[in-house]
Amino acid sequence: MSGARQTVFRPLEPAFLEDPYPTYARLRDDHPVGWAATPAEGYAGFWFVSRYADVAAGLKDNRFGREITKVLPPEAFPPIPEQQKPLYAMLAAWMLFKDPPDHARLRRIAAPVFALRPVLGMRPRIEALIAAALARIPDDGPFDIVSDFSSPLSIDIVADLMGVPEEDHPLVRGWVREITLSLDLVRTPERIAAGSRRAAELIAYFERLVAAHRRAPQGNLLSLLIAAQDQGSFLDDQELLASCVLFLFAGHEASSLLIGNGLRALAANPGEWQRLREGAVGVKSAVTELLRYDSPQQIAFRHALADLAFQGVTIRTGQVVGFGLGSANRDPRVFAEADRLDLGREETRHLAFGAGIHTCAGSSLAQLEAELVFAALGRRFPELRVVAVERQESILVRGLTRLVLDCGVA
Ligand code: HEM
Repeated sequence: MSGARQTVFRPLEPAFLEDPYPTYARLRDDHPVGWAATPAEGYAGFWFVSRYADVAAGLKDNRFGREITKVLPPEAFPPIPEQQKPLYAMLAAWMLFKDPPDHARLRRIAAPVFALRPVLGMRPRIEALIAAALARIPDDGPFDIVSDFSSPLSIDIVADLMGVPEEDHPLVRGWVREITLSLDLVRTPERIAAGSRRAAELIAYFERLVAAHRRAPQGNLLSLLIAAQDQGSFLDDQELLASCVLFLFAGHEASSLLIGNGLRALAANPGEWQRLREGAVGVKSAVTELLRYDSPQQIAFRHALADLAFQGVTIRTGQVVGFGLGSANRDPRVFAEADRLDLGREETRHLAFGAGIHTCAGSSLAQLEAELVFAALGRRFPELRVVAVERQESILVRGLTRLVLDCGVA
């Protein structure tokens, strides 16, 4: 068993950020559990798990978890500066960062909110928002599909379902962006402070919104969430507010990135775009493959909750382990010709929504939203020509901040 920490890759290098897949292939073959060095604020580095079978098993293994404060002494943690406290207090109340039993308690209230039936009931509203966003795309000349379409649309959809009125959507989008930057490995003290200020503002904003919905319930996600709290009272007010932010945050970012990543992949594979447009493959199958091929969330992070052995490697209590969802989804041990985009692929067990107890709570909504978006884009654009691309600076999520397309119009 090896406890040696030989660095096998550096995830902040520009070439890796641009195209991580050749590195993932090398790691799966030579270092299935290897040490990644990240000289970023607050991170010492992490063990990276790259094979599908190990990622799926690790995410279901309760020796890995989130609540590191339960297993390390208080002196292991540097004091949190005053101005960063609102951010950390909010994150600590997210189900995403909880282990059992608190995780199950928080997750239980998400179940009725994101069950298939209410989600299907949201379909007409989502379709209307997609139609409105498409109408804003110019008929001639290039446009940036990220800033002109996918980013505002994704926030519009989840914000709308969470009861945020339309005039506040741009405000909320700005907050979400700054909080996202403060959480990634690529972060600075200034970004953390800015994210923390925004977290406090967003919480205060939802406090007012929850109060308004309590007085006058509406048929949206927020009212369902409030009803779940009132019926079960498993959730305190701080947790309810933190969950509102989590849904907004989790629901916006990944859905938007999937549209950009998917369109870029389809532009590079015009034959697949034609198959989708002509109905030779179903849009459900297409979205499933796009989720696999270039997954919006690339890594699911956990901590070792004890000294343990995993695939022959010794991992110490408290060390960070990154389970490579994006790498697992390209593992040829599971997916034949894994680097090929095949919208009709038969093997569909991708890990883009994670695995184990934290599997994406909003996956039905995310899948439906993406199906409606790609179907609508297919009807509108006969061809996808990429004019310019800018990549988001992140290793946790993978996506574009800019994707300029010049499309023939049907
Ligand atoms: C393409 C879109 C999406 C992708 C790829 C995605 C991916 C993921 C992944 C990988 C996780 C697990 C993270 C981990 O284990 O560390 C997760 C968790 C979560 N997602 Fe999503 N997500 C998407 C959309 C959404 C939407 C639309 C919502 C809700 C509005 C949502 C709500 C959540 C929540 C609440 C969790 C935490 C679940 C828990 O901790 O038990 N997601 N998502």
